[in-house]
Amino acid sequence: MILKDQLNRPLRDLRISVTDRCNFRCTYCMPKEVYGTHYKFMRRDELLSFEQLIRVVRLFAELGVVKVRITGGEPLARQRIEVLIKMIAQIKGIEDISLTTNASLLTADKARLLKTAGLNRLTVSLDALDNDAFTGMNNVAFPVDRILENIDHARAAGFKPIKINMVVIKGSNDDQVLAMVRHFRGHDYILRLIEYMDVGNSNRWKLEQVVPAQSLIKLINEQFPIAAVDANYRGEVAKRWRYKDGQGEIGFITSVSQPFCRSCTRLRLSAEGKLYTCLFATRGHDLRQLLNEGYSDEQIKHYIIDLWSQRTVRYSELRSAQTTALPKIEMSYIGG
Ligand code: GTP
Ligand code: 5AD
Ligand code: SF4
Ligand code: SF4
Repeated sequence: MILKDQLNRPLRDLRISVTDRCNFRCTYCMPKEVYGTHYKFMRRDELLSFEQLIRVVRLFAELGVVKVRITGGEPLARQRIEVLIKMIAQIKGIEDISLTTNASLLTADKARLLKTAGLNRLTVSLDALDNDAFTGMNNVAFPVDRILENIDHARAAGFKPIKINMVVIKGSNDDQVLAMVRHFRGHDYILRLIEYMDVGNSNRWKLEQVVPAQSLIKLINEQFPIAAVDANYRGEVAKRWRYKDGQGEIGFITSVSQPFCRSCTRLRLSAEGKLYTCLFATRGHDLRQLLNEGYSDEQIKHYIIDLWSQRTVRYSELRSAQTTALPKIEMSYIGG
């Protein structure tokens, strides 16, 4: 079954946030002033259970979803996440399961458990290589060496290549770009440089803080010549480039300078069971209520079909001073 929205975009990817908590306080995502000791995170009993999530993924797979990404907050903060992954990996129709993590909790054991559970791909968020710059971003004094060690654990467990996501913010970590490129060039990693986005409202995003991909491409090309490569699949988020000397590839995520809503096949599910048809949505659709009220599989599928077939959103293409100021969901709530 291929379900299309109003702009003819099929539903292919489900991104599941499994917790709204994170042990980091990145300035651009969970600033300490907002996510302090009094911040009210979801209670455990508010989270969708693994059983509920499995049911939901099975129904989505029947509606054409082939890719699942597990996000957070920090998804490894959810206990025994590998158990969920193992169950998702067994669902007919799901071809790819990936997870985005800050890697702080990625011990050698955890990496092995994730791999044996059937996790196909791992993406690590890392914004700097220099320890002062990194702790300045994560705001909890978490040392960069521990992240690099944990990335090694992931490699040892067999994850290859590993994508490394770096959000580039002018004046914060843009001076780290070349060091990151130098470090992660090679076939085992794909570094992706992400334009800082106006997700949520707590980060007080300003357009002046965005470093457009074009200027990063120019900067990198001067030291490490690169050439554009075709996308792996229609709707791929990152624009792919390769190092001309054969040292693998690098990606640019241009949601501010060159939005990619036209091919957006992603639906997002929050940890408490709300569906969001866009990363920048102002409201969610309460799937949890249907699950708790005993709706049948067919009824739930109809609900999803209605939601997707009415979808018109393309926020990044319409971004303006007015849209930026709207009350939006936070990245830590919905994941990347
Ligand atoms: P694969 O191609 O499956 O490896 O994943 P991906 O490129 O979707 O990667 P990932 O989930 O790591 O996304 C990387 C970053 O791109 C996210 O952290 C977001 O910052 C941004 N991003 C992902 N999906 C969207 C989207 O639908 N809209 C916008 N505006 N940004 C997105
Ligand atoms: N803009 C771009 N990317 C962001 N991320 C979090 N907040 C933002 C933002 N405002 C990224 C993280 C991580 C992923 C989950 O989302 O760095 O890679
Ligand atoms: Fe946590 Fe990732 Fe947000 Fe940083 S960007 S606070 S690591 S969820
Ligand atoms: Fe998709 Fe919304 Fe991102 Fe556009 S802004 S690519 S519609 S999630």
